[in-house]
Amino acid sequence: MASVRVLLLVSGGIAAYKACFLARLLMQTGFSVRVAMTEASTRFVTPLTFQALTGQPVATDLWGEGQSEALDHIEYARWADLAIVAPATANTMAKAAGGIADDIVSTLLLAFPGPVLMAPAMNDNMWQHAATQANLKILHSRGVATVGPGEGWLACGTVSQGRMSEPEDILAAAVEMAAGLDSSEPDKMPEGFWTGKRVLITAGPTHEPIDPVRYVANRSSGAMGFALAAAAVQAGAKVHLVAGPTSLVAPRGLERLEPVQSADDMAGAVASALEAGADWIFMAAAVADYTPAEPASGKIKKEALGDQWSLQMKPNPDILAQVVPNHSHPDLKIVGFALETDDMMQRAAAKRRAKNMNYIVANNPTAEGAGFGVVNHQVTLMGEAGVIWQSESAPKGQLASEILKRLADTEKEI
Ligand code: CTP
Repeated sequence: MASVRVLLLVSGGIAAYKACFLARLLMQTGFSVRVAMTEASTRFVTPLTFQALTGQPVATDLWGEGQSEALDHIEYARWADLAIVAPATANTMAKAAGGIADDIVSTLLLAFPGPVLMAPAMNDNMWQHAATQANLKILHSRGVATVGPGEGWLACGTVSQGRMSEPEDILAAAVEMAAGLDSSEPDKMPEGFWTGKRVLITAGPTHEPIDPVRYVANRSSGAMGFALAAAAVQAGAKVHLVAGPTSLVAPRGLERLEPVQSADDMAGAVASALEAGADWIFMAAAVADYTPAEPASGKIKKEALGDQWSLQMKPNPDILAQVVPNHSHPDLKIVGFALETDDMMQRAAAKRRAKNMNYIVANNPTAEGAGFGVVNHQVTLMGEAGVIWQSESAPKGQLASEILKRLADTEKEI
């Protein structure tokens, strides 16, 4: 962990005082930490506090005035592996979403190409405001990770959502992101089969709305799709990841991360991505086969439901069977996934043919050394000519690289 360099960007909210604890926790965990603060945040805590905690000069303005030392702010952005914005005020989030760079924090955010973690903190009305929510959506779509805000006592005297996550929780998210950092440069990969290929990957579950607060989902973690995305980036591909709701941190170097909620959203995202052009599609997502027939616009109350509740469901579009063929081209390679607990091989082979896939990755989550939410998994890769590869139980990251390698080998032979 000692080699991971964190740029802690502090914007102006009362939660700035908690960023001091975060700086200390990050240091104790072994991160190298440098801090930049907006002018507003220096009204809540002094740069000297962070300087004492980190042993590094603190950047507070673009002009080097009022700083302990003259600093090249772009150098701070170049230096860092990971940026954490804590607290992230509505204003700083808006600037980041809009690409505005008019203070040291927003400028560093624009100049920093690496992964960003934001810990929003603001008044509950500001958090719920459509502008903030729209900005949040933009930031998420660009791969910015967020932690919180939580519910609790706000400085404005209300108990509501908007409170910055505790430093320990922000640290945990940072540690998780740091674990996903890979020092090898994707663009320095040797020329190979996947170099420059446009790869579309879907991952994770879908959430099918019952009402504004409830949904139907499944137990997919998204790990296999995210591992494939990371492996494809590593192999030099241009990866567009369409992800259902997951808590995973997106791999570095994606062309695009597109978060979606429902199967319908995913179908739309896949259709547009195929229209924009793709060489391969990996449908690793566990798309819900059914969705509530009539999602309610308001929260369904218990009193209205009574002792028993039957939910009417209707089929979702089958993305592979119905959406892909309408937006496909003859050279598109289609890889599907099958989850089977019985007769895995026969059923997967039949599924491959039925949905016109070039390849299918079959897996049995109940087999030994495989499963949901565990690191290891076991897969069987099948193509037109039958089984290509049967894996041992191995970490999903390793399986993903191996799947790409086997696919490249098979394609070269064709
Ligand atoms: N799939 C899809 N659209 C759906 C459902 C599934 O594109 N609405 C894709 C999945 O992403 C996966 C493949 O189809 O790549 C799996 O096919 P499917 O027949 O749904 O497999 P299972 O979900 O295992 O089906 P079943 O429940 O019938 O066994």
